[in-house]
Amino acid sequence: MSTRASGVTAEGDGKLAIVIMAAGKGTRLKSRRPKVLHEIGGRSLLAHVVAAAGKVVAPSDIVAVVGHQAERVRAALLGTGIRFVEQTEQRGTGHAVQTAAPAIAAYENVIVLSGDAPLVRAETIENLLRFHREERAAMTLVSTEPEEIVHYGRVLRKSPHSNEVVAIVEQNMLAPEQQDLREINMGMYAFRTAALLKHISELSTNNPQGELYLTDLAHVLYAAGERVVVFRHGDAAELMGANTIAELVALDAQLRDVTARRLMDSGVTIFRPETCVLDAEVEVGPDTVLEPFVQLLGSTRIGSDCRIRSYTVVENCTVGDNTILRQSCVLAESSIGSGADIGPFARMRPGCEIGDNVHIGNFVETKKSKLARGVKAGHLAYMGDSEIGENVNVGAGVITCNYNGVRKSLTRIGAGAFIGSDSTLVAPVTIGEGAYIGAGSCITKDVPADSLAVARAHQIVKAGWAAARRAQQAPKE
Ligand code: UD1
Ligand code: CA
Repeated sequence: MSTRASGVTAEGDGKLAIVIMAAGKGTRLKSRRPKVLHEIGGRSLLAHVVAAAGKVVAPSDIVAVVGHQAERVRAALLGTGIRFVEQTEQRGTGHAVQTAAPAIAAYENVIVLSGDAPLVRAETIENLLRFHREERAAMTLVSTEPEEIVHYGRVLRKSPHSNEVVAIVEQNMLAPEQQDLREINMGMYAFRTAALLKHISELSTNNPQGELYLTDLAHVLYAAGERVVVFRHGDAAELMGANTIAELVALDAQLRDVTARRLMDSGVTIFRPETCVLDAEVEVGPDTVLEPFVQLLGSTRIGSDCRIRSYTVVENCTVGDNTILRQSCVLAESSIGSGADIGPFARMRPGCEIGDNVHIGNFVETKKSKLARGVKAGHLAYMGDSEIGENVNVGAGVITCNYNGVRKSLTRIGAGAFIGSDSTLVAPVTIGEGAYIGAGSCITKDVPADSLAVARAHQIVKAGWAAARRAQQAPKE
């Protein structure tokens, strides 16, 4: 069914809102950072959930309930276009949904998700919604039967053969005869909004935590004669939450495993994938090889037939085809063309545009610089705030002096120029096309095209001077 970003489902009978509960503190994480801002796969738990929800409804139909460190959570989602409601006191999941009630009143159905269950997929949300509608239920909850059960609510069915639910019983409320209930509540629900709003005020705090449990709504609705059903999902892994650091780390590993598999399925070779850090959105072309301990972060895109050697870290970069990134490069927010040869030990800071067939060698730092096709900078150079034309040769130890303590200035080097080793180019300065800079020069004035500039002290040679000095200083016998 095609429901993407429309806000109206294909069945056409009314609008869907998605509420994401994200106000809790996450006490069990023992962290000062709000739980939903902890990261797996390179982005926050909440951002993952928002991304999945955003594939089903428009951002304006998503309501995040924030509370604990609300400003920080809001700031992290700035620009997504979703709506926020604030739950100033966190009095439980039922209270979180009560807080969201005014924001969802105009929708026919509402799906409630937890901000701490980041592996949820859009497809699962759509399947839940379809099932909920077919069942004409007031409330549909999602269940699974995992191998190991820790601190989860259990599903109490009307009978073993019925998908109708009588209640969800929280772990700390289980009666002795309920201890062996194995079907757990995954914390993801669909509601008919009218039924939800009519009964949400009937929740009580009659439980060990003194909270309003959203899960109690199952029994409240059942008792009121409404239809409450369970959607048996099966894939327990997808709906797992991150309540402790150990659970968080396990989810991170699982997500990165999914990413590595996706890339390998599309023709990327990843040696020792368990050692690589691959963020969820990363794209890599076929026949590219990732060696062990590579990190591809953020929105990085790598072309095909590339080789990324060990210990290289690439963050938010695009790389063309047939490029090699040798060992231990650190590259950020830049683009690199095809057929390039970078590193080992190259550092690329934000804002670089590196052309095709460029060679950047060891201990070369670039920042906010454009290097046109075929530029070579083999060793130990710094190029900051520069524009370097095609096939320029930058010698070892060349430095653009781009900062005078007050402002940054630009260095321009025309195509085909040769910059001798250990030269300093004091910006703003322009080197013309095809010019030649003698090694060790300190260039402070523009150099016209095709000319030679040498700016260094003249060499003095005194024949025999060293031998005479040694003779003079030798100890007398
Ligand atoms: C909840 C369910 C449990 C289910 C489990 C699945 C309840 C009472 N229990 O337990 O049946 O098996 O999920 O993962 O709902 N939140 C708020 N405001 C609050 C309290 C919580 O926004 O006042 C948010 C949290 O930030 C979190 C989500 O609601 O994202 C779920 O809360 P959490 O405390 O993690 O519930 P669980 O104990 O996991
Ligand atoms: Ca949880």
